[in-house]
Amino acid sequence: MRDLDENSITTEALSRVSAAPDPRMRQISEALIRHLHTFIREIEPTQAEWEAGIGFLTRVGQMCNANRQEFILLSDALGVSMLVDAINHRMPEGTTETTVFGPFFVQARKSFPLGANIAEDLEGTPMLVTGTVSSTSGAPLIEADIDVWHSDDEGYYDVQQGDELAMRGHFRADDEGRFHFWSVRPRYYPIPDDGPVGDMLKAQGRHPFRPEHVHFMVAAAGHETLVTHVFAEGDPYLDSDVVFGVKNSLVTRFVEHEAGTAADGRIMNRNYVHLHYDFVLKARPPSAQARSNR
Ligand code: BEZ
Ligand code: FE
Repeated sequence: MRDLDENSITTEALSRVSAAPDPRMRQISEALIRHLHTFIREIEPTQAEWEAGIGFLTRVGQMCNANRQEFILLSDALGVSMLVDAINHRMPEGTTETTVFGPFFVQARKSFPLGANIAEDLEGTPMLVTGTVSSTSGAPLIEADIDVWHSDDEGYYDVQQGDELAMRGHFRADDEGRFHFWSVRPRYYPIPDDGPVGDMLKAQGRHPFRPEHVHFMVAAAGHETLVTHVFAEGDPYLDSDVVFGVKNSLVTRFVEHEAGTAADGRIMNRNYVHLHYDFVLKARPPSAQARSNR
């Protein structure tokens, strides 16, 4: 086909992918072409704007390395990560809601006994975290795996500061599905905004902040792994999280306490906060369980 014009080019581009051997690939390619062409027709970019767009995507790619994934950050900041999360986690009522994974999880996790302090001697307000893990049936999930990670009281993750891991760890729930540990209270923080995504946010007139939160990944046999955060009630960024990750059910009070005996029996000689959250995991259907046990 020759002599394509601004109307006929879309039909021709669609026809070029119609023989894709994989039907899902065909569906995705067709949708990509249709939506991209609609986008271009809507905005009618100048040649210079098109080049600026290509330059932006090039810088996003160039910013990526083993420690920085600017494309995921772009997806986060455009609301795409949360949309994908929502589509993939249409959970039954009563199940803990999910939210974005984020870039600061570290695979090489360290396991701690219940009650440990994962902040060791870091500055900040001590924070007691307690919780339970149960199934939608109400049954406690004994020995559930709980991974936790969060920022320090200035909004920095350990991995942004150096090689020393802190404010992260893995715990095993006890025989009633309970867990507890100590750390320091985190703070709201900006997502990494020294790259093209930060430039985009500025150009869009947006701030780069996420509200104060603690990340959790909770796994138990026969259940879907939960990736979520618990957010601090009262944070100024709850309604404008740059990555659109806040859900009401995940917001809770980080209760301020004066020095004294904490809920785990520890005697505190200074003020601290206590955050409690009960996680509920969705049971996998028996057929999926059989597959995953193989
Ligand atoms: C985070 O909460 O760690 C995070 C999530 C998305 C983008 C950047 C950071
Ligand atoms: Fe975070």
